[in-house]
Amino acid sequence: MGLWQRFLGLFSKDIAMDLGTANTLLYTRAGGIVVNEPSVVALDAQTREVLAVGHEAKRACGRTPGRIRTVRPMRDGVVADFDVASLMIISFIRKAIGRLGLVKPSMLICVPRGITQVEKKAVIDAALAAGAVKVSLIEEPMAAAIGAGLPVTEPKGSLIADIGGGTSEVAVITLAAVSASQSLRTAGDRMNELVLRMLRERYRLDVGENTAERIKIAIGSAMPVPGLEDMQVAGKDLVAGVPRTFTVKAEDVREALAEPVEEIAGAVMRTLERTPPELAADIYSNGFCLAGGGALLRGLAELLCERTKLRVFLAEDPLTAVLRGTAKAMLNRQAFQDVFIA
Ligand SMILES: Nc1ncnc2c1ncn2[C@@H]1O[C@H](COP(=O)(O)OP(=O)(O)OP(=O)(O)O)[C@@H](O)[C@H]1O
Ligand SMILES: [Mg+2]
Repeated sequence: MGLWQRFLGLFSKDIAMDLGTANTLLYTRAGGIVVNEPSVVALDAQTREVLAVGHEAKRACGRTPGRIRTVRPMRDGVVADFDVASLMIISFIRKAIGRLGLVKPSMLICVPRGITQVEKKAVIDAALAAGAVKVSLIEEPMAAAIGAGLPVTEPKGSLIADIGGGTSEVAVITLAAVSASQSLRTAGDRMNELVLRMLRERYRLDVGENTAERIKIAIGSAMPVPGLEDMQVAGKDLVAGVPRTFTVKAEDVREALAEPVEEIAGAVMRTLERTPPELAADIYSNGFCLAGGGALLRGLAELLCERTKLRVFLAEDPLTAVLRGTAKAMLNRQAFQDVFIA
């Protein structure tokens, strides 16, 4: 990049955004990754005034008095609450580039591959309502593959599995297009839900969503992992109705996660079955890549390796891979022109 372009870039208000179910990340040329926060908004239930967004709002989840509501405007990877999603995007854009002046940002936003036209329009409209002048979209598995450094524009088959909060997406990519894919609305959120349910049923212990997620991250696994310790968890005893701590076994958490883990493995297998033979040969020699926060689940890469008999590797920093790929496509529009969707 020339010096002059770089100089102009400092004034460019272009934003790349990974509008995720669990986390939203924004990138600008001048600042790099400027926002990396949970997709959560805390609102006054009566006035609809935004009280907090991101980390601060997530910390408040399950801890707010009646008047304050915490909302996750993205569910299953799509816009579930349009107004709150727009408010959240406005607030993150402000964090990224300050108040909107005369220059309005154009945005490249990554969306799950499995979403409908109506859902795509909702994302675009939310960004326009938040002040963007121009919005283009890129599909999440494509962005993840670019972020992971896979050779997406070459005539070579690459397989990527992006396991987020709301969606898991598996895709075989070649020549900047998806050749075979599967989208599931089963990912990290579903895992949290199942941990929560297991605690209620097996321990008679009630905890909030944040605690269920902490347990999953601390001692969850996709297959038996040596040395995983049990965890002390505080919550509400459902029998006595009072606060108590329980010792939660890693094995119980693993069992609770078995169903979504199997679904993800099934999606990888089905994608491989639908992969044309030449591309399958490429994947056989190169293995495949995992991205998204769910890729960090202990033992998941090993389990997928066992099932597929292929080499499985993690993208560098799986939680930012999608945003880094989106940003790379935004900064190299020429090279990646075929990956944008209308
Ligand atoms: N170490 C970990 N082990 C297991 N799960 C993890 C770990 N770290 C993060 N996660 C999970 O990853 C998920 C978030 O991942 P990510 O930020 O990629 O999702 P997202 O992009 O917001 O969602 P989507 O792509 O579905 O819209 C959460 O469910 C979180 O609990
Ligand atoms: Mg994601």
